[in-house]
Amino acid sequence: MHFTPQSKQQRECLPRHTAIIMDGNGRWAAERGWPRIAGHHAGSEAVRRTVEAAPDCGIDVLTLYAFSSDNWKRPREETDALMVLLTEHLQSETERCVRQGVRMSLIGRRDRLPDHVLDAAEVAERATSSGERLRLRLAVDYSARDAIVSAAKAMNGGGRECFARMIGEDVDLLIRTGGERRLSDFLLWECAYAELVFTTRMWPEFEASDLAAAVEEFQSRQRRFGDVEPAVGQSLIRHIDQNGAGTFSDVRGDRWLR
Ligand code: FPP
Repeated sequence: MHFTPQSKQQRECLPRHTAIIMDGNGRWAAERGWPRIAGHHAGSEAVRRTVEAAPDCGIDVLTLYAFSSDNWKRPREETDALMVLLTEHLQSETERCVRQGVRMSLIGRRDRLPDHVLDAAEVAERATSSGERLRLRLAVDYSARDAIVSAAKAMNGGGRECFARMIGEDVDLLIRTGGERRLSDFLLWECAYAELVFTTRMWPEFEASDLAAAVEEFQSRQRRFGDVEPAVGQSLIRHIDQNGAGTFSDVRGDRWLR
């Protein structure tokens, strides 16, 4: 299913940077009496479907939480299997990404990743570097707190703009599957004004239609970024009387506020 924004307003209000916490693989597998890794395998299919659907939803940058720095606490068997799955995914998807104009990159720490992941990531990043349709960022061994500390150390006296540039682009829409409602150390700075959409859908079952539904939910939200509603707020006129007392009117002149 492809999502086509209908109105001009819908097109202008697209979640250019969308990030997803792909949760629920383990529970989805357990419900079927399967090992957790079977859930991760099904999850990698959902990654492929989502990447394919993202550009039609007006998404330019898609950041997927594939492995958090805290995921190293999981049993070795599971972390090893996830690393192998990641390598297989990078290898098998590179050609498709080239064809679809998807530029792939890894974010997160690289110094603790096995060589096979590093090699596959370098090949995929190089092969897809000219992709312009979608920027796909896979967060692997990623911790937002660590990223913030690293940027703070590296900013060398620079200000907030410099820090924000080092950290990365603001997220417009954050989706978390699997029914939990938390950020789990993912893109904490970038999500300052993100719209959050939580769904009970388990990640392996996530379809293009779920992505389109999340985008529609995003478009129904009013984003004010700390400001007031433009239709009223931008037209407020402040009147100060000779005693210094303020009153406000809106441009329609029919409503006075104190
Ligand atoms: C969270 O579900 C998911 C992960 C820790 C791994 C996500 C990995 C994939 C989606 C597949 C591999 C990734 C790529 C990019 C090919 P969970 O295991 O915590 O699920 P649970 O909450 O049901 O236990």
